[in-house]
Amino acid sequence: MRRSPSPERFHLIVTAPSDDLARFARDVKTGLTASPKFLPCRYFYDREGSRLFEEICRLPEYYLTRAEREILSEHAEEIVARGSHDVTLVELGSGSATKTRILIDALLRHQKSLRYVPVDISRAALEESARALLDHYRTLSITAIAGEYHDGLDRLRAIIDGPKLILWLGSSVGNFERGEAAEFLRRVRATMTVSDRLLIGIDLRKDRATLEKAYDDPSGVTARFNLNLLARINRQLGGHFDLEAFRHRALYDEEIGRIEMYLVSERAQRVAIDRLNVTIAFAPEEAIHTENSYKYSLAEIDALAEAVGLRIERQWFDAGHRFSVNLMAPS
Ligand code: AVI
Repeated sequence: MRRSPSPERFHLIVTAPSDDLARFARDVKTGLTASPKFLPCRYFYDREGSRLFEEICRLPEYYLTRAEREILSEHAEEIVARGSHDVTLVELGSGSATKTRILIDALLRHQKSLRYVPVDISRAALEESARALLDHYRTLSITAIAGEYHDGLDRLRAIIDGPKLILWLGSSVGNFERGEAAEFLRRVRATMTVSDRLLIGIDLRKDRATLEKAYDDPSGVTARFNLNLLARINRQLGGHFDLEAFRHRALYDEEIGRIEMYLVSERAQRVAIDRLNVTIAFAPEEAIHTENSYKYSLAEIDALAEAVGLRIERQWFDAGHRFSVNLMAPS
């Protein structure tokens, strides 16, 4: 049996069940009966999908993770020195929290102890990363919030009274439509006081070849990540998808500035999904749109910050100028 994280330094707040099967079923039915077909990218991250995403982050072609880590390693001192003393570190969508360690190390050089508040939909991921972090850092305490970002944000005010540094890393903002990103950041802004800071990693617009390789790697890990969505429907909803009959596609729309991912049907086929009581018909080459990953120009980052009442206090890039990390303050 798994050891639970150190009880006196670990608190868990659950705002929503992490595996809401009824919602998954509803969303799959809506998406696969729509025209054109789509599936929400939030469902990539079951246990297998999260494992595959970690593998993506280690791919040479997926430069985002390495570029962001390079920036954080190089500038962690300046990032924390710019903030208040005795901050609480909040992280949205913490995942395995590996990059967070760079900032925890830097913060613990400035303050004796640290409270870390990760917000993540996966309770299992939160518990796993909390266990590792608490083992490693004796003066760390963790209040983990298992739930949607929105619900997590609503809780912050009640549980934190001092200054905070909020992390939103990995260019997760890219998986929101541009308008939704602004709407969400407005909610983040509403939880911030003048002494709080938001540190947000945002991937930049760049040439098509680099982007398409990052999202369609030759070793096929991203393809497996995308196809896992169909495997998950098979596992959890009694789907009968033949994974060999669909292929992964990633395209960059230069004008919109986004990578689009699809699962493309290789042939005409009908796929039953038992628990949904539906059979979905696919034409040859018909695609299911599974993800958008928006890329930003510097002007688009400026406009986003301004639209939500934040100003960019400092902005850093990796040596290849592929990725940005932005320290934002209330304007
Ligand atoms: C989590 N998110 C920021 C990743 C991205 O780059 O949009 C998800 C991903 N999709 C394919 N590869 C990685």
